Amino acid sequence: MQGTCGKVRGPALCNGSDSGIGSALRAFRRSAVSRAGLARGMEQMALTRRDFLKSAAVASICGAVLPAAARAVERAHAERPVFALPDLDPAHDGLRVAQLSDLHVGDRTRPDTIRDAIARANSFAPDLVVLTGDYLCRERSGIGLMRDLLGGLAAPTVAVLGNHDHWVDARGAARALTAHGYAVLRNQNTTLTLRGAPFTVVGIDDLLTGHARPREALTGAARGSRLVLAHGPRTADQLKKLGQPLLCLSGHTHGGQINVPGLTQFMLRTIAHEPYARGLFRLGAVQLYVNRGVGNSALRIRFNSDPEVTLAVLRRAGQAS
Ligand SMILES: [Fe+2]
Repeated sequence: MQGTCGKVRGPALCNGSDSGIGSALRAFRRSAVSRAGLARGMEQMALTRRDFLKSAAVASICGAVLPAAARAVERAHAERPVFALPDLDPAHDGLRVAQLSDLHVGDRTRPDTIRDAIARANSFAPDLVVLTGDYLCRERSGIGLMRDLLGGLAAPTVAVLGNHDHWVDARGAARALTAHGYAVLRNQNTTLTLRGAPFTVVGIDDLLTGHARPREALTGAARGSRLVLAHGPRTADQLKKLGQPLLCLSGHTHGGQINVPGLTQFMLRTIAHEPYARGLFRLGAVQLYVNRGVGNSALRIRFNSDPEVTLAVLRRAGQAS
């Protein structure tokens, strides 16, 4: 095992939008501290003032009229992507990996939503659980909530941190996770024994806050069955340069959270600089999967972007059907 890991519950073992349009708008407002700066920023993004105001108006209307619809989808939706991996050990063909992301404990995410998501993950009977960052929201009191709400995952569990965790208290968040028996990887890797064969998890720290070091995280990582965790989807741009076949599971975007088809993708891409909003992407030899997350950080509501619990099924390339 590389690096420092806590013990892992189970048999073997151890980048800002807070996403959502509201968050993107706030980030945009913070970054444009003067009228001249605002104009320059908008010019650079090739986004006219009229376009921007139209987008903001639509987002505001959605936020005002859609909370009732959003409440109806707070139960996490199960996604079951299948990934074909060329280097997967035969023993791991069909391996089940549950992913939870962006739990965001605090007043913007209902505790029942978090508890339900953990129960859903356990219901998958996974071989491995991975947590891809942003457990906290904005308050240090979230550390206590992490201790209260995030326990109970029944398989070996490995985690990485997200931008909110760094903004609030990265050490505290890591300690709360290890107290539950979950491993926390910060530009490290660890090898577990799953189904009798070695399986390496590579954990890259958060990109948005400047902590991501992919090469360091991969140092000494065994070949064969491997999985990369990184909160920020754009970490995959760096992984692509390594030229290795890798599967990277990420989160961070909340799938846009207020997902107005076309508009949200446009705003994520041009304002938040997050081109990978949700689902599967291929970047050279790298497969990137972006989970919509469980919780909320900026707005308390979601629209057309259900909370997600993922069951990733790993298949040997050539075996997937
Ligand atoms: Fe994030």
